Amino acid sequence: MDVKAAVESRRSIRRFKPEALPRETIESILDAARLSPSGKNNQPWQFVVVQGDEREAMSARLQAGLKATQGKGIPTGSAENTFRIMREAPATVFVFNTKAAAPWEEQSVMERIFSVVNVQSIGGAIQSMLLRAQEMGVGSLWICDTFSAYEELCAWLGKDSLLVAAVSLGYADETPDARPRLPLSELVEWRG
Ligand SMILES: Cc1cc2nc3c(=O)[nH]c(=O)nc-3n(C[C@H](O)[C@H](O)[C@H](O)COP(=O)(O)O)c2cc1C
Repeated sequence: MDVKAAVESRRSIRRFKPEALPRETIESILDAARLSPSGKNNQPWQFVVVQGDEREAMSARLQAGLKATQGKGIPTGSAENTFRIMREAPATVFVFNTKAAAPWEEQSVMERIFSVVNVQSIGGAIQSMLLRAQEMGVGSLWICDTFSAYEELCAWLGKDSLLVAAVSLGYADETPDARPRLPLSELVEWRG
């Protein structure tokens, strides 16, 4: 599969087959992240793969976190559905930004700029993972609803860096149509 085909055929997958993914498959997907570009080659990423029996513990933390967030009156939007998907997906990769303060922490202007740079690096790395997964016939879902169970997840995973996202992986049990996109004409301004 060439890059164009991977970009065009990738979809967010929200129904996965229960079949586990071989470790080499997950490693190959993670290697695509490792090889991605990053600002000043900072490589500000770290990954925790949760699969098999560990998904039950993850799911318990997700539910506890969701309840705590809702208890504070903070809207959790799509998180309940996303957490169902994470429970069902054979594997979920938690993605940490090791070189950024959390957005809610005090930061100097320089720190804020570096955070913007590092978050771009992480976004690129995640996209590389999604495209490599697509090439290998693996469905994926990029997830930020993890912020609705942020403290519980970080405590459970034992990390103190910024948990920016998760990526659920597995063989797709659905074939969604392409979701709408704005036309280039609305997005691009040509000069010269
Ligand atoms: C940064 C980011 C965060 C996302 N977070 C979630 C999420 O928490 N739950 C979810 O179901 N989808 C999530 N998505 C998937 C988007 O909803 C999806 O990419 C978008 O609707 C377009 O659909 P497509 O990926 O099939 O093209 C996220 C996507 C991105 C890029």
